[in-house]
Amino acid sequence: MIEKVLAIETSCDDTSVALLRNDGWVIDQISANQDRFHQKFGGVVPEIAGRRHTEDLLPLIDLILRENKISWNEIGGIAVTSEPGLLGSLLVGVVTAKTLSLAKKIPLIGVNHIEGHMVAAFLRDKEYAPKPNWGFPCLALVVSGGHSLFVQMDSFGEYKKLGGTIDDAAGEAFDKFAKMLNLGYPGGVHVDRLAQKGNPTAFDFPRAKIHGDDSLDLSFSGLKTSALNLLKRMVPQDISKSLPDLCASYQEAIVDALLIKLERCQKLTKAKNITVTGGVSANSRLRYKVSEWCKKNDLHLEIPPLKYCTDNAAMIGYAGLMRLQRGERSDLSLAPKPASVFLDV
Ligand code: KG4
Ligand code: ZN
Repeated sequence: MIEKVLAIETSCDDTSVALLRNDGWVIDQISANQDRFHQKFGGVVPEIAGRRHTEDLLPLIDLILRENKISWNEIGGIAVTSEPGLLGSLLVGVVTAKTLSLAKKIPLIGVNHIEGHMVAAFLRDKEYAPKPNWGFPCLALVVSGGHSLFVQMDSFGEYKKLGGTIDDAAGEAFDKFAKMLNLGYPGGVHVDRLAQKGNPTAFDFPRAKIHGDDSLDLSFSGLKTSALNLLKRMVPQDISKSLPDLCASYQEAIVDALLIKLERCQKLTKAKNITVTGGVSANSRLRYKVSEWCKKNDLHLEIPPLKYCTDNAAMIGYAGLMRLQRGERSDLSLAPKPASVFLDV
């Protein structure tokens, strides 16, 4: 019987470690954010990300065990993100987890990062627990800087991808727009903040693949091009005067696209339980519109707290725990996969 799991997440630019109890209770999670190292480049620089993980990961593992007074012989499993992500980032986590598993003779499990995002709402701690009536079967919208997809989840491990982005992820669409406007990196939060003072109907941005097609996929590249063309036509003074309106209108186009496809997925699956996770679930307009829609349609919504929505080790620990409890193990040949066949992401 596995009592406690140590989880490691290093797939992109957050170094995160967590300790979980076997019932999904998060004992602790410590993360090192790298935003300040990537900011001046306007995006994640893979080589810097890998180097930061190398410096931060083992000290974080040492710290979380010491602070929680947990010894290695209490750890019954090590869960690590092994796919998808940046190769140099994944390598640091995977090699560290394998080394610890070998040295300490602890079972190892490689976890898909997207599965982690999908199950984040099942985590529990002192401040958070999903509502008692929430659970499987459920419909998950995972929206982050790297992924946007809709998944039907019938139980742990029983997933069906219903649709996803065919080009940019929703977070990428936010970040690229913020970059065009020099708002800072990562840009989603800046667009969100400015949008709160703007009019979402001031500019007419396209909602791709919504009207007249029943696809469950998303596309944000047309929106990005339309924004670029609009900004090229505007003089700098008008752009700065219109920043709130531009942000509100652009944001509305993303949120509408997500919501329309989410509604379509719900009609198809008849799911009563909905979860939205990933960094973009922090978006205030998305949260508002999804919760209004859920209220109107008597659907149960769980959006985990931000610390479990953005890249984090606790969600990896939970997905790993479910797999370890089913008897799954990874061997020492576990290798990182930058792209993964799981759910085609
Ligand atoms: O899940 P996450 O932390 O990392 C990835 O797996 O990508 O998501 C990061 C993404 C970034 O694109 C960021 O701009 C976006 O989440 N984001 C937001 C907001 N906060 C973070 N997008 C829109 N509105 C926000 N408030
Ligand atoms: Zn992620």
